[in-house]
Amino acid sequence: APDADAQPSLQGRTVVVTAGGTREPLDPVRYLGNRSSGKQGFALAEQAAAAGAQVHLVAGITEAEPPTGHARISVERIETAEELQEAVRRRSAGADALIMAAAVADFRPADYAQAKIKKTDDGQNPVITLERNPDILADLVEHRRSSGEGPPVIVGFAAETGGGDDDPMKLAQQKLQRKGCDLLVLNQVGENLVFGRDETEIHVLASAAAQSALGESEPVSWRGTKAEAAGVVVARTAQ
Ligand code: CTP
Ligand code: CA
Repeated sequence: APDADAQPSLQGRTVVVTAGGTREPLDPVRYLGNRSSGKQGFALAEQAAAAGAQVHLVAGITEAEPPTGHARISVERIETAEELQEAVRRRSAGADALIMAAAVADFRPADYAQAKIKKTDDGQNPVITLERNPDILADLVEHRRSSGEGPPVIVGFAAETGGGDDDPMKLAQQKLQRKGCDLLVLNQVGENLVFGRDETEIHVLASAAAQSALGESEPVSWRGTKAEAAGVVVARTAQ
């Protein structure tokens, strides 16, 4: 089996990394958003660059500033899922890998109000109707399947809490199948994982084809800093 700690080179390769959350506008001053910090995606971009790749980082709304001043990381900012999809499609053409660490809003407000939504005196509360955003990852996998074009390695992420009878690992296996990506990184959230720390626990699941390419038949687990976890993912992306 390959050495799990060996860092294969990404020299001369191009990697697209998405990070952070999307923001879906409701009116000129309001939006629907999420709590993604962007840290995991930034760590992935840094590890990929450290392994020699040219990195296109597509960053949504993030708590921290994206890495700056790195010669091999270019940063593009987006807000909505549709903008993210456009950027991912453009950047993925000719790229060697796509790592989708962004927290994409599954839904957006169906109607954008051109003017700020105001309170009214008739006692009626506004109702926000949502519509589905495109599934950027699944669409790209489908495009690659039908056209033969697209990144040879596509990596998805899943944050699962589990709960009840739902085993996070089982949910992640189902998600890997459903999305059709090559690798799926499960972030186990909640439980005894400490908030506010730069610590994380990941499990890297591979499709059947990726399993044979990697020579690994079982998911690889890692608990440590987000930088270390990113290194584990990047090592598998490079193989
Ligand atoms: N993703 C995407 N486009 C979306 C939603 C998710 O590309 N509209 C990507 C994420 O960036 C991530 C992966 O798909 O890499 C899994 O996201 P997740 O939210 O866990 O999966 P969903 O299919 O949206 O399922 P769920 O109902 O559990 O949210
Ligand atoms: Ca989702």
